[in-house]
Amino acid sequence: MTSEHALPAPAHPGVAGSTPTTGARRAFLAAAVRRPGQIGAVFPSSPRLAGLLASVVPSHGAPVVVELGPGSGSVSAPIADRLPAGGRHLAVELDPALAAYLRRSRPGMEVVDGDARELTSLLAAREAGRVDAVVSGLPWSLFGQADQRAILAQVSAVIGGEGAFTTFAYTHTLAMSSARRFRRLLHEAFDEVVITRTVWRNVPPAYAYVCRRPVTA
Ligand SMILES: C[S@@+](CC[C@H](N)C(=O)[O-])C[C@H]1O[C@@H](n2cnc3c(N)ncnc32)[C@H](O)[C@@H]1O
Repeated sequence: MTSEHALPAPAHPGVAGSTPTTGARRAFLAAAVRRPGQIGAVFPSSPRLAGLLASVVPSHGAPVVVELGPGSGSVSAPIADRLPAGGRHLAVELDPALAAYLRRSRPGMEVVDGDARELTSLLAAREAGRVDAVVSGLPWSLFGQADQRAILAQVSAVIGGEGAFTTFAYTHTLAMSSARRFRRLLHEAFDEVVITRTVWRNVPPAYAYVCRRPVTA
């Protein structure tokens, strides 16, 4: 099933997230200047977009949640707000300085210095086989087709038939072939792809993809 419609506003008050701190903004900007081709953004996701991305995190039980490309933690905040006490939150970040910043600022999160392209082995090393949700902040439009496919295949493998996957795209990137290809790959990889309303107050405006039931799981 493929549908494009607005998701309801997050029911959980904490899910809307909070405005990034000055320290988080500085850490993000420094990384964006240092590695523009890896960060793919100048501003962290807004609380509204972050809340949409985190809405798939189960709020009961002991879920395992994986965040890809957490940056300075703008999406980590609403994930942590939603996560129940027994849950695990693993965050895979390629930039060592951002990973170090997250380790200091988010002690409850398991920060994994690593590459999302090696997702399954990174999780196996941490005995996190079954994953309930993967929340991605990765800059997909900067990746080639092989990397987009490889990461989506690993996300599909780890969430299986029961889990959920969210990610986002900037509205202006739909003019780029890599972003259009990524959308096509999502529709190939998942039985359900919901495209949320545009968050106009994000800079730049963006929307989220909420995906379930990988076709290969
Ligand atoms: C656009 S920023 C998003 C940051 C944050 N999630 C947000 O929404 O504000 C992209 C993040 O993905 C990280 N990243 C890029 N490629 C990666 C990869 N292959 N594996 C893990 N992280 C990666 C970057 O270092 C950066 O922190």
